[in-house]
Amino acid sequence: MRKALAAEHLTKAFGRLLAVNGVSLEVAEGSVHAVIGPNGAGKTTLFALLSGALRPDRGRVFLFGREVTHLPPEKRVRLGLSRTFQVPQVFPNLTVKENLQIALEAARGLSPYPWLRRKDRLAVEERIQALLERLGLEEKAQRTVGELAHGDQRIVEVGLALSLGARLLLLDEPTAGMSDEETWRTVELLKVLHREEGITLLFIEHDMEVVFGLAERVTVLHLGEVLAEGTPEAIAADERVQAAYLGEVVRG
Ligand SMILES: Nc1ncnc2c1ncn2[C@@H]1O[C@H](COP(=O)(O)OP(=O)(O)OP(=O)(O)O)[C@@H](O)[C@H]1O
Ligand SMILES: [Mg+2]
Repeated sequence: MRKALAAEHLTKAFGRLLAVNGVSLEVAEGSVHAVIGPNGAGKTTLFALLSGALRPDRGRVFLFGREVTHLPPEKRVRLGLSRTFQVPQVFPNLTVKENLQIALEAARGLSPYPWLRRKDRLAVEERIQALLERLGLEEKAQRTVGELAHGDQRIVEVGLALSLGARLLLLDEPTAGMSDEETWRTVELLKVLHREEGITLLFIEHDMEVVFGLAERVTVLHLGEVLAEGTPEAIAADERVQAAYLGEVVRG
């Protein structure tokens, strides 16, 4: 198995709180892998360590076989890793098309200016059209992103990651705050990206229906540690996992 991502014994403390504690994780290339766990389990912190937004106190990160523990986020992006956030990170005052254009030009090292070479401009234009179609956003290409529905903004964010050339997509709660219809659309889009573009997906998710609909493997985090890992079916049947979630309900 070729690994898109491997984490070895990652640890990150905030003061005395061990947010991520000795977490190891392997994500096979071309697979769909979910990270679940109660609130505060360390999921988002783990993603920050994987993407390079945070440096681990201990442990190592490998991307497509190459160690990246000390590389900043933008270098990891160049190696094919992109991340989306719990709250969408888009350019809200620009149109959908302009958002994609900026990311595509940045990825190609092009300056966003009119004197850009005509050939490069045409290549970017073609890729924008292909992406708009892939994302189902052709009709909203000229709309200002900040005025779109939440679900569409999240899809634009996925579009930005694709524009940057992502081969491995880290999605932090991709369906959070979505209506059923938006959730279903997002799941379908992620399936298509996986199936037709061969993109490896690692996603944090609270909605177990989405986890079951997408993931081949599930890692459960609890209090900063890996509590269990397995197929969705095995995880759903795991008594320790049920107890961890029950503990949350009781505490909450
Ligand atoms: N920058 C920070 N400074 C201090 N503490 C932090 C910081 N970021 C996260 N934490 C703490 O670390 C723990 C793990 O937080 P994290 O956001 O990774 O959890 P999570 O699993 O993503 O939770 P949720 O499901 O609510 O998004 C929490 O106790 C949180 O309060
Ligand atoms: Mg989180």
